[in-house]
Amino acid sequence: MGKIMVGKTSDIPAGKMQKVSADGKEILVVNVGDSYYAMDDTCSHAGASLSEGKLEGSIVTCDWHGAKWDCKTGKLHAFPAKIRDLNSYKVVVESGNVYLEL
Ligand code: FES
Repeated sequence: MGKIMVGKTSDIPAGKMQKVSADGKEILVVNVGDSYYAMDDTCSHAGASLSEGKLEGSIVTCDWHGAKWDCKTGKLHAFPAKIRDLNSYKVVVESGNVYLEL
């Protein structure tokens, strides 16, 4: 398991999310009230980038068909069909830098 720097805290202020590439994966980093969370960026329904969706609290809504994901866990929050949960990743903040543990 490695720790990969993906940006600065100033790049992702509270209430914002950003897609990053790390270790060959596309990952969505989300700032909820100055706590950082990360999960797969690719929606498991039909492959949309969740970075283009909307963030309300810790819930990310996919822009394509409206699946709702909890960025704290990567789990599906609401969608009419059963689709695979996303992977979630540990985020570490040190000295204003944001790292993913992969
Ligand atoms: S691609 Fe995300 S809900 Fe369809």
